[in-house]
Amino acid sequence: SSAVEGDLVNILFTEEQIQTRLGEMAERIRADYEGEELLLVGVLRGAVMVMADLARALDRHLEMDFMAVSSYGSGTKSSGVVRILKDLDTDISGRHVLVVDEIIDTGLTLSWLISNLSSRNPASVEIATLLRKPEALAMPVEPKYVGWDIPNEFVVGYGLDYQERYRNLRDIGTLAPHVYSS
Ligand code: PRP
Ligand code: MG
Repeated sequence: SSAVEGDLVNILFTEEQIQTRLGEMAERIRADYEGEELLLVGVLRGAVMVMADLARALDRHLEMDFMAVSSYGSGTKSSGVVRILKDLDTDISGRHVLVVDEIIDTGLTLSWLISNLSSRNPASVEIATLLRKPEALAMPVEPKYVGWDIPNEFVVGYGLDYQERYRNLRDIGTLAPHVYSS
């Protein structure tokens, strides 16, 4: 394994498992939105990998746009306040919107985003997330499409970072202790 992949102590999901699961999610999404126009909204930066792979797995006409949001203050999410760093370029009024993220942790990001997007009068807004941590959930978020529920452990890879690194791992896993101590 590479020097980057070697920092993982435990692999939760391999590249192959991730692609298979995204294919299954894509099949459901394709059926649910049959005959409708679909706009995928990716949440920067973590959702970049899921957006790229889910959009291609969908293998149908769609549009893609991105938003970047951030918690106020130190980067902890405890304040519960979210601000828009980059808004959509698309007017979503009357559109079917599917928000794509790689993980729901406390739910703060997506609960805020869904209420923000809902106020723009879309035809519908749903969520697709690869991962969800049910034990960490503090805000009401109901994703229609979930890859896997996982325990409340810190995971990296496939968009998920530790201090901005490891987003480019193909697998998802937990980091070896030496990474945190160095
Ligand atoms: C991470 C992750 C989700 C969000 C989930 O993004 O990508 O978007 O946190 O956590 P929550 O459910 O507690 O809100 P982050 O805001 O760290 O930025 P990033 O996508 O740029 O890594
Ligand atoms: Mg994110």
